Amino acid sequence: MTAKMKEIIIDAESMSEDIFEEFFSESSDLTLRAVCTSEKGKPATGNGKVFRGASAVSFYLELMEEPESEEKESFIVVAGRATRLAEALMILGRKPKRKLRILICGGGIMHTDATASAEENFYEDPHAVKTVLDSGLWPLIIPLDLIYEGGFGSGRKPGLDKSELLRHALRLIAEGRTEESSRKCRCSIALRGENRGELLMDSRERAEEPNCRLLNQDGSHMRYCSVRREKGCGSCDGGPMKVIMDADTGSDDAISLMCAALCRKFDIRAICSVWGNSDPEHTADNGARVMSLMGKKVPIYKGLDTALFKYQELCRRDRGNLKPIEINGEVLHMHVDELPIPEATYRREEESAVSFYLDYFSDPKNRDTAILATGPLSNLGLALSIKPEIGKNIREIIIMGGGLFKANITPCSEANFNHDPEAANIVLNCGAKVTVIPLDVTHKTVITEEEREEIRKLNNPCALFAAKLLRDRSLIHDATQPLYIPHAATAHDAMTAAFGADRTLLTELIPVYLRVVEGGDCDGHCSLDRRDESREPNCEIALSGDREGFVRFIKESLAAYGDLPHMART
Ligand code: RIB
Ligand code: CA
Repeated sequence: MTAKMKEIIIDAESMSEDIFEEFFSESSDLTLRAVCTSEKGKPATGNGKVFRGASAVSFYLELMEEPESEEKESFIVVAGRATRLAEALMILGRKPKRKLRILICGGGIMHTDATASAEENFYEDPHAVKTVLDSGLWPLIIPLDLIYEGGFGSGRKPGLDKSELLRHALRLIAEGRTEESSRKCRCSIALRGENRGELLMDSRERAEEPNCRLLNQDGSHMRYCSVRREKGCGSCDGGPMKVIMDADTGSDDAISLMCAALCRKFDIRAICSVWGNSDPEHTADNGARVMSLMGKKVPIYKGLDTALFKYQELCRRDRGNLKPIEINGEVLHMHVDELPIPEATYRREEESAVSFYLDYFSDPKNRDTAILATGPLSNLGLALSIKPEIGKNIREIIIMGGGLFKANITPCSEANFNHDPEAANIVLNCGAKVTVIPLDVTHKTVITEEEREEIRKLNNPCALFAAKLLRDRSLIHDATQPLYIPHAATAHDAMTAAFGADRTLLTELIPVYLRVVEGGDCDGHCSLDRRDESREPNCEIALSGDREGFVRFIKESLAAYGDLPHMART
C-alpha cells in the first residue's frame, strides 16, 4: 500500500521563509495546501495559497466538507490563534464529520510567556482553543515547554525560539510520529479571569474522558527544577517547635493532630477549628476528642463557619464530596461530623479563633510559633485582613492545600484552597515564610495496607484509631479516587506535621509565586507564575516527598503513645 500524501494547512500570524525550504522542498513528502491567517497576519507563504480572515473561515468550511480521500491525509497546524478554525467549527456545530488531524502549537505547562499563567496564542483567543479541544478531533498540543531545557525555572534550550513549535509539528507529521510521544488527557482552557488562557488538565484521579493529546517528549517539561533550600530555614532543631494547629478535623486532620501531639518535636499551643470537613463546632469538638484520647488538654478555639467571601451569595457550603458511600454493605465517610472515639473530657474556649490569632501574634514574644494549617484558610485569612502586621510575627506557616498536577474537588482544584481561595491568597502573601504541601505530594506519600497493619499492631488507642481511619480512607479511595498503590490511603494533613518535625521529608521544594484563582470555572486552582521573569516568590511549594520517611514518622509518633507518663498500652 502506498503511503498517503500529506497535505498541510498552516494557520499562523507570522512565519519565516526558511520553514518552506526546510519542509516543503520538491523532495519533501509534505505538500503545503494553504496558509490561513488573520486580516492583519503577515506570514511568509512560500508557494501556498493564502486565506485571510473571513476567507480562511470559508476555506476551512470547504475543507471540512470535502469527502475523505484514500490518497491524502490533511493536517492543520495552528501556530497562532485558533480563531478562524474555531469559527468554522462553530458554523458546523462544533463537531465536523470529516477526520482532520490538528496540531496546536501553544499553551504552556511549566512555562508561559504572555501572562503568569498563559502562553500568548492561548491567551489571545482561549475560546477558540476550547472549541478545537472540544471538537472531537483529538488535537495534539505542542506546548511552549518544548523549547525549554526542562521543568519550571529552567532556561530556553540554546538556539531555539518559539518557531521551533511549528517546526516540531511539521517534523512529527513528516516522520509519521504525531501519535507518539504524547499522552491522552482531558484539557481545558481558562476562558476569563486572572488566569485566562491557562492550559488546564483534569487532574483528578478519575478525570473526565480525554479530549486531546499533549506532547510529552521525555517528560522533562512536566518536571520542576529542584531548588536547593536555604540551610536550616524553619527548622525546629534545638527543642520543640511551638505550633498552632488550624484544622477542620476530619479524618486526616485527626491523624495529623495525633502525630503532632505525640511527637516530642512539637509543643502545641492551641488548636483552631475551622469549617471544611464539618462545621467548626464539630471540628472543634473532634479536636478536643483527639486530645482527650491522649489525656491532653490543648486549648481549642472555634473558627469561622464559612469562607471569607465565596459562599456569601450562595448561603451554603457545597459538601457534595463528603457524601457517605456504601461499600459491601458498610456505610463509609471520608470525614464524619463526630469522630468515633470517646467524648472529649473538656470544652473549647469561648474566645474565637480569629481573636485568639490577633492577640497571640500581636505579641512579638510569640514570634517563635509556627502554624500547621490543614483546612480552608479562613481563620488566618480574616485575622490577617484585620491586622496584616501580625504576619511578620508568625514563624512560618505550613499548609496542606492546592495541587499542580493533582486535583480532587473540581477538575483543577483541591478542597482546602477551593473552599476559600481569597483567604488562601491573603495567607500566601502575608509576609511569613509559607510552605505549601499540595496533593501532588500527598497522593505520592500514601500509606499501604501492610503499613496500616503495622500501625494497627502498635495496639494503642491512637494507633488503632489511626488504623481505622486509614482503612476507611483506603476503601473510599479504591471506590472513588484509586491511588497508584491499591488499598493504600492518603493522609494529606499529617504531612504538615511530618515536615514540621523533619525537613527532609519534602524532597523537592521550589520557591514560586503562587496565586489561587478566585471565582469562575477555575475557582480554587493553584496558578503559578511560570514566566521566565516571574514575580518574587511568595511561598515554597513541595513537589515530592519521602513516602517511607513519612510513614516512619507516623508510626514513630503513634508508638510514642506508650511513652506518655500516665498511659498504659491497651
Ligand atoms: O484535599 C485534602 C484536604 O481536604 C485535607 O485537608 C482533607 O482533610 C480534606 O478536607
Ligand atoms: Ca483537613
